[in-house]
Amino acid sequence: MSMLITGIGELVTGDPAVDGAVEEPLHEGLGVLRDAALVLGGGGEDSAPVVEWVGPADRAPAADWSIDLEGRAVVPGFVDSHSHLVFDGDRSAEFAARMTGQAYDGGGIAVTVAATREASDLRLRELVQRRVGEMRAQGTTTVEIKSGYGLSVEEEARALRLAREVTSETTFLGAHVVPPDRRDEGGRAAYLDLVCGEMLAACAPHARWVDVFCEPASPHAFDGEESRRVLEAGRDAGLGLRVHGNQLGHGPGVQLAVELGAASVDHCTFLTDADVEALAGSGTVATLLPGVEFSTRQPYPDARQLLDAGVSVAIATDCNPGTCYSSSMPLMIALAVREMGMTPAEALRAATAGGARALRRTDVGRVAVGLRADLAVVDAPSWLHIPYRVGVPLVRALEV
Ligand code: NIG
Ligand code: FE
Repeated sequence: MSMLITGIGELVTGDPAVDGAVEEPLHEGLGVLRDAALVLGGGGEDSAPVVEWVGPADRAPAADWSIDLEGRAVVPGFVDSHSHLVFDGDRSAEFAARMTGQAYDGGGIAVTVAATREASDLRLRELVQRRVGEMRAQGTTTVEIKSGYGLSVEEEARALRLAREVTSETTFLGAHVVPPDRRDEGGRAAYLDLVCGEMLAACAPHARWVDVFCEPASPHAFDGEESRRVLEAGRDAGLGLRVHGNQLGHGPGVQLAVELGAASVDHCTFLTDADVEALAGSGTVATLLPGVEFSTRQPYPDARQLLDAGVSVAIATDCNPGTCYSSSMPLMIALAVREMGMTPAEALRAATAGGARALRRTDVGRVAVGLRADLAVVDAPSWLHIPYRVGVPLVRALEV
């Protein structure tokens, strides 16, 4: 079965070289086609529909059935490359405290760990599905999900099994913090042994990536040498590397990520010129999480500096109960534009192709023949309405 989508007022392909792309600076790098059509069909390896044809509506081939979008814009589905969706419990009071000046140091993670351990599989599954549904309703079609609120062999493996039910992009984050019940003398080293040994062995079959909260500024997280150990163990177990780095202060996270060839280093709130230079010469994406700065009252990173230096930049939600309980990629795009110095076109690219690069995916984040038909419809004549009409629910994933 094939499906023709017509009436696309503006189609963002993400391919600047696409035939017929408008040449206005506002749309730079987005490969925007006006009055476009798409044909979807077939099924890829996992039987997901793929794009079979893309071009001007007046040259569209026939298909088995068709829908008319009546002039709406279509963009590649958002790729949210950083989230922590497997959790239970409520930390809204912590948010309120931060809004009146209390600093974030990662200590609240233990509250979520306790609540998550208490939750049944059924309850956690329902919570994860609800959050993924919330994301799709806002245009996200690919999501990465981390563990990190279990912090025992069984609980970390359980979180990853549940995450795997909804995405192939699962990340083992046993090294989120040292759990409170292991903070006695010698407990820290023993916990690292566990993470790099038995826990990794139990989790690796359910994970594509390993991550670590590398943050010497937090008493709960891990320093550079501890982080290196976790990443090297993960790499030896066949996992790709991601790093939470430079969130609360300057530190070794970015340099370590670059040195070890991580796909992405996330947060990047506090960067030195040397960090920016290292990123610019690397294959590591800098993933910025503006919702975290919003929700913790930290300074926003300077995306302009990164982009001007030639760094590959992604934006993601980091949806989690502590530092940003928002699942909204449209909000992240608006914040990136308003607070981090990105143009609207750069922000949209970072939320689509940038996220795909951060996950080393070539089948999502753009609209082209042969790629997955992961699309989001904007209930407006232009994709520019995403940041322009901030807070208005205009974008949704196209269900095909
Ligand atoms: O990405 N920084 C570490 N982890 C999460 C926050 C986790 C929490 O506070 O629950 C983050 O910000
Ligand atoms: Fe995170």
